[in-house]
Amino acid sequence: MADLHVSDHALLSHRMAELRDVATPSPRFRRLLAEIGAILTIEATRDLPSRTAKVTTPLSAMDHRVLAGPEPVLVAVLRAGLGLMEGGMQVLPEAPVGHVGLVRDEHTLKPSQYLLRMPPEVVTRGAILFDPMLATGGSAIAAIARVKEAGAPHLRFVCAVAAPEGVAALRAAHPDVPIHAAALDERLNERGFIVPGLGDAGDRCFGTEG
Ligand code: PRP
Repeated sequence: MADLHVSDHALLSHRMAELRDVATPSPRFRRLLAEIGAILTIEATRDLPSRTAKVTTPLSAMDHRVLAGPEPVLVAVLRAGLGLMEGGMQVLPEAPVGHVGLVRDEHTLKPSQYLLRMPPEVVTRGAILFDPMLATGGSAIAAIARVKEAGAPHLRFVCAVAAPEGVAALRAAHPDVPIHAAALDERLNERGFIVPGLGDAGDRCFGTEG
């Protein structure tokens, strides 16, 4: 069963409150999403493999913990994942970047793919996927399947808000992929929106209408 990590970081919670607020305008929404993405990336990479390296300070030599390998690939699930991944790119500036374009049909709630671009490093480095919303889980399940097909040996999924239904579906489909969320909300409504949630993250991020 995949691990579910819901961060209780005070700075994250503070930003989530403003992100959820219906009065928060698009430019501010994007900025908050990037900051939330940065904090979640730090949380999600806590256990990246490390090794010991020699470091010489101005006063002495010492052993120090450093990353054992290069930074993992970052993958945005379009569109709203772009906003969250912005923060991931700040935390992991050397990471190659991939994109999975998915849009959810508003009636069937099924995602359809319109783009896939994956850097070759995904085969050796694994990936962190970013999508602010884990609702039914259909988009996350499909995106993770595409990145696995591209050869990623290990994955982590980062989201701002998760619904219990989406967590259950994602865990069943990809039990090997840990989920890192800023919040676990109550439920989905009849239109497949997370309640209380934050509305449509893509539309709020880019100022479009649903
Ligand atoms: C939203 C959201 C997720 C997906 C979640 O994207 O950003 O990708 O829906 O729903 P699910 O878990 O039920 O699949 P949407 O399809 O609206 O596309 P957008 O990001 O371009 O707005």
